[in-house]
Amino acid sequence: MKITLYFALSCNGFIAHSDGTEEFISDAAWKLSEKLAAQNDAIIVGRTTFENVENWNDPQYSLDALQVKERVLVSSDENYQPKTGWVHAVSPEDAVSTLEARGCMSAYLVGGAQLAGSFLNKGLVDHASFYLQPWLVSEGIPMVKGLLQDREMKLLSADVMESGEVLMEYQIIYA
Ligand SMILES: NC(=O)c1ccc[n+]([C@@H]2O[C@H](COP(=O)([O-])OP(=O)(O)OC[C@H]3O[C@@H](n4cnc5c(N)ncnc54)[C@H](OP(=O)(O)O)[C@@H]3O)[C@@H](O)[C@H]2O)c1
Repeated sequence: MKITLYFALSCNGFIAHSDGTEEFISDAAWKLSEKLAAQNDAIIVGRTTFENVENWNDPQYSLDALQVKERVLVSSDENYQPKTGWVHAVSPEDAVSTLEARGCMSAYLVGGAQLAGSFLNKGLVDHASFYLQPWLVSEGIPMVKGLLQDREMKLLSADVMESGEVLMEYQIIYA
């Protein structure tokens, strides 16, 4: 399965404030996530990101509205009861095998930082898209948590927007 990670992030590498707010991230960044979802069969989301987006309670930013066949929430809690329309997986490997069993060939890894680290440590992410926001943020959640080893990436493309945002696409190299 081909898995693509996408994050919108500040120039100093934060994807959200510590309290989960993300007002430094533009609407264009969410539009890009909608586009990426439409290019993939599934989305995979960590429990904290899922709950954070649910708490926004804003139909403009809805994981349920993304155009995908399957939605997977990852939580180690074996008794987790997913919302209707969602499938629960207990680990990254479980997420991948669940989606493959449902005929999915590709997935967009929404994050957050801990889940991204888990997938990268297992060598399960093929591509990464980073949408750099023209902000320095005072404190927050770093893009990837718990990465066990350095990972080299090959730059595939870089686009500078009129807004000052920069979209960079990378292939992850697993030596
Ligand atoms: N700017 C962006 O592009 C962007 C994108 C995505 C998210 N975010 C933000 O990032 C923040 C959340 O990131 P986060 O790092 O705190 O949390 P997260 O990665 O979204 O979720 C962490 C949870 O996912 C589950 N999980 C992660 N790795 C696992 C593994 N290997 N096996 C089983 N379960 C695993 C665990 O759930 P259990 O504790 O239930 O076991 C863990 O507590 C939110 O504020 C969100 O809005 C920003």
